[in-house]
Amino acid sequence: MPKLPSYHLFPTAETASKTLAAEIGELVSSRAAAGQSAVLGLATGSTPIPLYEELVCLHRNGLSFANVTTFNLDEYLGLERKHEESYWHFMHTHLFDHINIPPGNIHIPDGTVADENLQGHCLDFENAIVRAGGIDLQVLGIGRNGHIGFNEPGASPEVRTHVTSLNEVTIADAAESFDGPQNVPARAITMGVGTILDARRVVLLAFGGSKAGIIKRALTPGITSEVPATYLQLHDNVSFFVDADAGAAIEPSSLPE
Ligand code: GLP
Repeated sequence: MPKLPSYHLFPTAETASKTLAAEIGELVSSRAAAGQSAVLGLATGSTPIPLYEELVCLHRNGLSFANVTTFNLDEYLGLERKHEESYWHFMHTHLFDHINIPPGNIHIPDGTVADENLQGHCLDFENAIVRAGGIDLQVLGIGRNGHIGFNEPGASPEVRTHVTSLNEVTIADAAESFDGPQNVPARAITMGVGTILDARRVVLLAFGGSKAGIIKRALTPGITSEVPATYLQLHDNVSFFVDADAGAAIEPSSLPE
């Protein structure tokens, strides 16, 4: 039975990010106390930056990431790791360079894999998730067109890690960072919707007024491939952590108790 994600409205991006960081901290430390690992699915974009700042802060205050394994949602195809816009670069700059996660526990799709090896690379990524025991908590952002990871409008719900072509809205949104739309990579590797739906818990973050319309649609009953975030209605443990601007179009009375 489809079920709407639970909706949590916060006054600011910082308060939402602190709440999620505290949940992640609890997960990581309770697993460590039991001698177990915690598996996180991570996202890029401007949205999770305050979350990563908060996780770095928790680390400075004593939280160890020695038992953490991570899988990133996606990566642009054709970018070297050292490229400033690569997600490898983003994740190291904002998080991994500042915490004690063992480098071998970090998994980010490799944007430099040759075309003939891409299928194998995507399969290896899926297999690594399974070997790690599956994702405990997947962090998501959302594109203005409703994409999650790089699962663009039209994506099917069963698909696993794969190569995809970026949609025109996604390219337009990335154009500024790449100094023009012509420099935005045309393709990316992304976890599929099926991969995301296998995570045991999903938290989607959305901040700012540009996300208000798509948040309203994602929280309206009705699943459509045109808005991939609506596939989250197929999962029974999804929370949306939204700031006041991104939640501006939501009428609380329209949501289930
Ligand atoms: C990119 C990423 C998505 C992210 C989206 C939103 O397209 N592949 O995972 O959610 O951007 O970015 P922002 O958080 O900057 O709005």
